[in-house]
Amino acid sequence: MTALAIAPGVTHWPGYLDAAAQAALVAELREAARQAPFYLPRMPKTGRPFSVRMTNCGALGWVSDERGYRYQPHHPETGAPWPPIPTRLLRAWDELAGYRHPPEACLINFYAPTAKMGLHQDRDEADFDAPVLSLSLGDTAVFRIGGTSRGGKTVALKLASGDALAFGGEARLAYHGIDRILAGSSRLLPEPGRINLTLRRVTKPSA
Ligand code: SIN
Ligand code: FE2
Repeated sequence: MTALAIAPGVTHWPGYLDAAAQAALVAELREAARQAPFYLPRMPKTGRPFSVRMTNCGALGWVSDERGYRYQPHHPETGAPWPPIPTRLLRAWDELAGYRHPPEACLINFYAPTAKMGLHQDRDEADFDAPVLSLSLGDTAVFRIGGTSRGGKTVALKLASGDALAFGGEARLAYHGIDRILAGSSRLLPEPGRINLTLRRVTKPSA
């Protein structure tokens, strides 16, 4: 398995999941999305909708609405607990995260071809010792990552279907986002677009 060092704390594993694993994961996510439907998150204060649709699996899920960003144990629209994180993803965490405790949240983002995500930090977690581990499915995305201050130098890389990427250590609070989706670059999903999964440890493990 090739691991590319993109920057200190940022590692890219192209083709981490093979075609069969990708297809199996899509089927598992379809079942998760049946229990916890994708919804349109809204920006804090303004209530402006994101261009990305979201859902989660795991004990906690990341949500955003007028009240702010937070983790919560239930779906914001159905009120039901999030479905469990598929075993295949827990295995990926064990192989790649280099962190002893399991992830508690898996944010599932769906990008239609015109969706993007502005540069931001993932900092709603109480534990920054664990990395954020991302897996990509479907159309390739142009992912951008920089340093820990806004407006610094950034690098862009393409994340294709099956790729894994981790940012942790000194890059745990790195600004990152999605410039654009290269529609039609993959035939994994029945519709054009991209799914991104981010596995996160949210709470500090007790000693
Ligand atoms: C995110 O920052 O939540 C998603 C990043 C990605 O889509 O690769
Ligand atoms: Fe993020």
